[in-house]
Amino acid sequence: MDMRKNETLVITCAQGVADYLRQEVEQLGYTVQSTSDTRIEIAASLHDAMRLNLTLRTGINVLCLLKQFSCKGPDELYREVVSFPWEDYIVPSEYLSIVSRVNTPAINNSVFASQKVKDAIVDRVSEKCGSRPNSGPDRDNVVINLYWNYDRCWIYLNTSGKKLSDRGYRKIPHAAPLRETLAAALLSATGFDGSQPLVNPMCGSGTIAIEAALIALKRAPGLLRSNFGLKHIKGFNKEAWSALRKEVRAQSKKELPLRIIATDIDEKAVLAAKKNAQTAGVDQIIEFHVCDFNDTPIPEKKGIVILNPEYGYRLGKQYDLEETYKGIGDFFKNKCAGFTGYIFTGNMALAKKVGLRTSRRLIFFNAKIECRFLEYHMYVGSKG
Ligand SMILES: C[S@@+](CC[C@H](N)C(=O)[O-])C[C@H]1O[C@@H](n2cnc3c(N)ncnc32)[C@H](O)[C@@H]1O
Repeated sequence: MDMRKNETLVITCAQGVADYLRQEVEQLGYTVQSTSDTRIEIAASLHDAMRLNLTLRTGINVLCLLKQFSCKGPDELYREVVSFPWEDYIVPSEYLSIVSRVNTPAINNSVFASQKVKDAIVDRVSEKCGSRPNSGPDRDNVVINLYWNYDRCWIYLNTSGKKLSDRGYRKIPHAAPLRETLAAALLSATGFDGSQPLVNPMCGSGTIAIEAALIALKRAPGLLRSNFGLKHIKGFNKEAWSALRKEVRAQSKKELPLRIIATDIDEKAVLAAKKNAQTAGVDQIIEFHVCDFNDTPIPEKKGIVILNPEYGYRLGKQYDLEETYKGIGDFFKNKCAGFTGYIFTGNMALAKKVGLRTSRRLIFFNAKIECRFLEYHMYVGSKG
């Protein structure tokens, strides 16, 4: 397999994140050929895929297109997949996992489609190499993605394997954590680059503060992980991978003049956040406190404040939360003059209780929930 040959690479992301992913990919020097809601496409090699897996903050999977074809049913799917030279990519000792997304009247469940693809690949490798790879749901080794839309199929090698949002630092999740890639996209939307203070009350398990620390230190999130799908592919170049990791690591800073402030009223949340920050190797630049958001220490130098309050719809909680959102408005007004404040929430009725005028309202999705990332400019001397 030629790691330097140009392929079609598709990088997937959560809904609402594609513009930030595009910026990241362009900053790395690639030309984006097309963008949709949840993916961008570039022409680049598997060697480039290594770099993308190591460095991207907002992408979820880096996929390499292997084959596309028209397909009317499961038998045709099998025939098309078995005719691909899988023996050039997969050795029988590897474990194989198939991920399918199916939207076609030809079949009514993606499990059956995955089964067909798995059978075809295993049969082909077995015929050419004399033994069969094991397979199952575990995404730790070779991962193949199938997208089947009406009468068209696309087969991809998933060079990430596990989602890139699984950075590996969040050993203790705490309640309702944000996906790491979403936190990185929110930070990108604020323009945060580490040159300004960042304050994160209601930090929960610390995802926003930790992603901010990684950005500020220019530390590639992929360096926190050792396993990627592409490492299990036949012909994977270990030396090139080590050299790339070294090159990417050399670009990161050791220290920061500023510290990120993260607080939460729940001691257990702060303990989890500290532990996670330690695992990510950024605990030394985050200052943690257990306190009400309103008592969060605010630095002299002006910067950014981000809160991700609960937005539960459960009966009985609504009234408390209304008070909390109103309190956030007062906190911004009274304690954060000169800062830009942000609230990430999935509950617009509660957001109205903040009582301040927004300067931007960006749409993101937290899993399936449509959310808003609300921006408030707290001018010195302004009352909102
Ligand atoms: C939705 S979670 C934040 C999740 C976080 N973004 C993450 O990725 O883990 C909301 C957090 O707000 C905290 N919280 C609730 N009321 C608070 C208050 N009055 N002051 C400070 N923190 C509070 C909760 O303890 C919880 O950890």
